[in-house]
Amino acid sequence: MINAYIKALREGKTFYTRGDGLPELKDAIIARYKRMYSLELDRESIVTTHGLSEGISMINSAFIDRNDKAILFRPYYMQYPIYVRMNEGKVITEDYKEEDDWNIDVDKVGRNLRKIGKKRPKYMMVTNPNNPTGTVLKRKALMGIVELAKDNDIFIISDEIYDEMIFSDVEYTSISEVAKGVPYMIMNGASKNFDATGFRIGFLITPEKDKKSMEIKNKLVDYTLTRLCVNTTAQYAIAGAMKNRKEHERETRRIAREIERRVMFSFKLLSENEYIEVRKPHAAFYLFPKIKFGEMKVKSDEDFVYRLMKEKGVWVREGAGFGARDHFRVVSLAPKDILEDAILKINDFCRKNAKRGP
Ligand SMILES: Cc1ncc(COP(=O)(O)O)c(C=O)c1O
Repeated sequence: MINAYIKALREGKTFYTRGDGLPELKDAIIARYKRMYSLELDRESIVTTHGLSEGISMINSAFIDRNDKAILFRPYYMQYPIYVRMNEGKVITEDYKEEDDWNIDVDKVGRNLRKIGKKRPKYMMVTNPNNPTGTVLKRKALMGIVELAKDNDIFIISDEIYDEMIFSDVEYTSISEVAKGVPYMIMNGASKNFDATGFRIGFLITPEKDKKSMEIKNKLVDYTLTRLCVNTTAQYAIAGAMKNRKEHERETRRIAREIERRVMFSFKLLSENEYIEVRKPHAAFYLFPKIKFGEMKVKSDEDFVYRLMKEKGVWVREGAGFGARDHFRVVSLAPKDILEDAILKINDFCRKNAKRGP
């Protein structure tokens, strides 16, 4: 990736590319999806963006006008609702079911859909693998929401930005494997799978050719023209990294295994804490424990995070930002000795703040 970046610079590739993306990068994305998910794509179904964050913004500009509804599953990545609201839309929340490994209760979502009136939501967005829970959606749950989307005429959008960071104990299913023939979109990018957050490369893929998919694709292309193009050298670099498949896969496997070891280490230590409840993650690098407020002298997740920082110097993220109060998010990327020190401090903090005393 770095070599491809330098090569592009040396070859003077510092011009504008097409607004919707460098053809070489699109071709590399097409090959990736064919290889990973047997998905047939063409260049027209792909739009590259300045990080997926810009993609999230464009999606909402394309789908949402005043009072339009969007369904988000909680806990969600914090940027999603912000862009719905910036377009004056309304967020309808559904919940991932914590007791079921943060999967989806499809019957419940179906019942709720019947209650929300004639005006159908514009899209339903899931995150798979999930930030902040670190879990993956079961194939059956995905098939269920695809059916719901079809019956209710709702576009499905799946954020799959961690789809190469899957742990060894699960089978991963992409929406593209179960949504054929239904209007849907995949969100992805280079930040996580290519460990390249600062390169700012994201991409939106709309594989189908029905009327709604074509309308959305055209809108996205129009938006890309307003900011001319995505960083050219970074596009060449990610195209190079994607084409260098063997090395990329070897590196990603190595990194994913190491992250899995660190997450499992954190999971084990956090599971020893009787004042929280934590589910085993299956992907990405997060854990999302639930605080047992009944047993602790803390008022809220914000209070927990603030006091943990003040008393122990450990920073975690409060659940409220993800639409899930009562929780906090742990990022488990640091080396083991740092993780151990931090989690023992979290556990000690909880013990010291127990209602029944330490
Ligand atoms: C689920 C999810 N989607 C999107 C993004 C945004 O990624 P990018 O760096 O490509 O803007 C992140 C970043 O953390 C994320 O976790």
